[in-house]
Amino acid sequence: MERTVLVTGGAGYVGSHIVVALARAGSTPIVLDNFANSSRTVLPRLRRMTGNDVPLIDADVRDRAALERAFRTHHVDAVVHCAALKAVGESGARPLAYYDNNVGGSIALAQSMQAAGVRTLVFSSSATVYGQPESNPVTEDAPPRPASVYGRTKRAVELILEDLAASDASWHVALLRYFNPAGADASGEIGEAPSNAPNNLLPILAEVAAGRRPWIEVFGDDYATADGTGVRDYIHVTDLAAGHVDALSLLERQPGVTTLNLGMGRGCSVLEVIAAFERACGKPLQRRIAPRRPGDIAVCYADPARANALLRWRAKLDLDAICTDAWRWRKATQTSD
Ligand SMILES: NC(=O)c1ccc[n+]([C@@H]2O[C@H](COP(=O)([O-])OP(=O)(O)OC[C@H]3O[C@@H](n4cnc5c(N)ncnc54)[C@H](O)[C@@H]3O)[C@@H](O)[C@H]2O)c1
Repeated sequence: MERTVLVTGGAGYVGSHIVVALARAGSTPIVLDNFANSSRTVLPRLRRMTGNDVPLIDADVRDRAALERAFRTHHVDAVVHCAALKAVGESGARPLAYYDNNVGGSIALAQSMQAAGVRTLVFSSSATVYGQPESNPVTEDAPPRPASVYGRTKRAVELILEDLAASDASWHVALLRYFNPAGADASGEIGEAPSNAPNNLLPILAEVAAGRRPWIEVFGDDYATADGTGVRDYIHVTDLAAGHVDALSLLERQPGVTTLNLGMGRGCSVLEVIAAFERACGKPLQRRIAPRRPGDIAVCYADPARANALLRWRAKLDLDAICTDAWRWRKATQTSD
């Protein structure tokens, strides 16, 4: 389906893959980013990959004047809102910056959409809104109990969008709760390239494999899991991006708010991920067991049945594909270190 879609945070990790997925599905993506955690160098890559002149709006999502200019300049059918700060640890130290950016930015965006008459919004939420789930797999009906400032910014935006849609039936909103996005586009052209230090397991493993770090720290091997390490639901970023294209199709016929888990529906332990990365890079990776990090939970994986049914979407790429693609991307970026 041809639509023009504004992707906030479109130069970032997940956003850049969404831009590609949209273009491959025949839509016209526009990127809005302030490069707080990404680089302008992704734009020529996106243009090469999509064969389109992906327009860039170099702006902060909190800047209403810039947003309103963007909506006047481009006919936008829908918005995918990825722009946010996402470092859980940092969010506790800088709560005002996180609320301002993530919640303030979402309010400014919704106000500008309202003024421009654009009412279709896909929001990048997170499994972190669940906090410590009572049971796994986690369904969308599990009570949200975010355990970090970052998680609370995501939950706050969900509530704001629910209130907005309750006040005005013309809104069509999808709250997509991502589990653990990982991997990279199979082309090796785009991947996770944060300007801030990486926090996630896969980019850190890639640094160990590339010789940039001596070992991976495994935070806790005494959880009540099969091998004692934390279990998460890793979803290939290409599968995740495809879920956004399908969510936009759903929103064409579905008003109100639809909340969906996007995950594989399977948990993998830290040691399983290390073993898969070792297969992908063909060498052993040193690890050190470190104490549990405060706030970390033992197990969290998705029940993706609602997304499977409503979107006719399913995550297809497994952990080996995730690690192979993450390692290919790491090698492709090696020369720029
Ligand atoms: N990667 C994950 O593990 C994960 C998991 C669950 C949810 N999410 C959410 O998905 C979204 C995308 O995450 P990501 O991993 O691609 O992160 P990312 O940091 O790579 O991308 C976010 C992008 O938003 C931009 N940005 C941040 N604040 C902005 C602002 N005020 N104005 C304009 N641009 C701004 C950054 O420069 C960056 O390009 C975020 O909302 C994040 O909270 C990510």
